[in-house]
Amino acid sequence: MRPEELRSHQWYGESLSSGLRTFSHRARTRQLGYLPQEHLGKPVVAVLNTWSDINPCHVHLRERAQAVKRGVWQAGGFPLEFPVSTLSETFQKPTPMLYRNLLALETEELLRSYPVDGAVLMGGCDKSTPALLMGAASADVPAVFVPAGPMLPGHWRGEVLGSGTDMWKYWDDKRSGLIGDCELSGLESGLARSPGHCMTMGTASTLTAAAEALGVTLPGASSIPAVDSGHERMAAAAGMLAVDLAWRDLRLSRVLTREAYEDAVATVLALGGSTNAVIHLIAMAGRSGVALSLDDFDRIARTVPVLANVRPGGTYLMEDFHFAGGLPGFLSRLTDVLHLARPTVAHATLREQIDGARVEDPEVIRPRERPVAPEGGVAVLRGNLCPDGAVIKHIAAEPHLLRHTGPAVVFDDYRTLQRTIDDPALGITADSVLVLRNAGPKGGPGMPEYGMLPIPEYLLKQGVRDMVRISDARMSGTSYGACVLHVAPESYVGGPLAHVRSGDLVTLDVPARTLRLEVTDEELERRRAEWTPPPAHWERGYGALYQEHVTQADTGCDFAFLARPGTVHEPNAG
Ligand code: FES
Repeated sequence: MRPEELRSHQWYGESLSSGLRTFSHRARTRQLGYLPQEHLGKPVVAVLNTWSDINPCHVHLRERAQAVKRGVWQAGGFPLEFPVSTLSETFQKPTPMLYRNLLALETEELLRSYPVDGAVLMGGCDKSTPALLMGAASADVPAVFVPAGPMLPGHWRGEVLGSGTDMWKYWDDKRSGLIGDCELSGLESGLARSPGHCMTMGTASTLTAAAEALGVTLPGASSIPAVDSGHERMAAAAGMLAVDLAWRDLRLSRVLTREAYEDAVATVLALGGSTNAVIHLIAMAGRSGVALSLDDFDRIARTVPVLANVRPGGTYLMEDFHFAGGLPGFLSRLTDVLHLARPTVAHATLREQIDGARVEDPEVIRPRERPVAPEGGVAVLRGNLCPDGAVIKHIAAEPHLLRHTGPAVVFDDYRTLQRTIDDPALGITADSVLVLRNAGPKGGPGMPEYGMLPIPEYLLKQGVRDMVRISDARMSGTSYGACVLHVAPESYVGGPLAHVRSGDLVTLDVPARTLRLEVTDEELERRRAEWTPPPAHWERGYGALYQEHVTQADTGCDFAFLARPGTVHEPNAG
């Protein structure tokens, strides 16, 4: 690209007589304190920052953005930071999933409406990674992603703690009377010791690894601990790379190809990553014009073993994974299933990107002949209870439950479940199948992470730690158990889950990939005819927009009007 070919040239121009608008843009840039020689003729790099005081996973990104900008200046670009919505998994209610598409929309429109030649996208807490990449893919600008990085490992009484995973574990210990308030207080201080996203292979680590596998980060970027000085160096290098991408006009559409998404799926499955990645990768691929489906996940799952020995499916944490070789080392063990000739933002080919990578610790990143599990970590289920599919992270479930028939105990909503789950009058046993409905994309609303339904306290005290649980909800990537998730279509729109009754037998058969409600088709049809739709959650506002346009889990929960193909015209900037 020549300077006059840069997109930002439409705003700034080169000549004083270019027009009133150009004159105004230049005057206002001087108002910002910049000399013309500091910005004219240079690629404008938008630094989209999801920093916020309320988001502990991104709290270091305000400082880290300075390193990104340093890199942009050093490479001869002009950095401009844009604060964008923060999606804090911990604090945003009812769930940040409700707002993923809002951040995606904001990202796309910012990149399109301002003088942007390239972008650095900064995020990591769960939905922020897909949201930023969905928006940037739709805007189709040259862009590089800066993962927020995992927090340091947790510690308590000599034990190494994993965020999320150990929270669930010790909360069950509290409910079963094994620990008290004093221990909980110590755990509160020890679980999350530094800025950064969850340091297990939860949704954040899974999605940032997927971003690296897609080829939109620097090599090895996704696992650098948030507070490591290497993270700051990576941020500066990303700023430099963004300038180069802008000059080369290397748009995301050249990188985010079907091959890239298939490699991201293989990576997520071989990591034993979060089930949330299924929804997000389908949505991201949709923005790239790639029709990724649940069947792609199931097909690829059968070709890759789980090699990452990281919690919740394994033993170690993200810092161990990083020093064991990180994603480049990990990918070096999957070269037979990857598309090595495709480009990445940092290299001409993925082969170059992982060239020379090695595994330093074969206990953390296992060799192919000694996997953590012989098949990828997520299975896709079909059957009369989930005609459009459901998923289960079978490697995080007790093996004896993977083939199971039991009587359903049905909860109409999560509040009722919370209120009544410990009531012995419900007659729940270890063989029961807990069913939660109205927790899907529209019914939740926002498809909250309710999917690891709590086990009744009296069963916990008997030592029961896993049961078959079924819902149209999602599950935190740090959770575990025989939890069937993402049942589609969801109950709120009249999917079969809406018609299950307590006492019905339900059969889960993971090896056969089936989930069945053991009632006749005629009976199911009769119940369907009797069903009345629940009332709408919203009459106005963003919620109403969401409710009207969100798609089902099997198609990624994007907004239909954002997912569909079509031209969006460039604004007239001159
Ligand atoms: Fe942000 Fe877990 S709470 S990644």
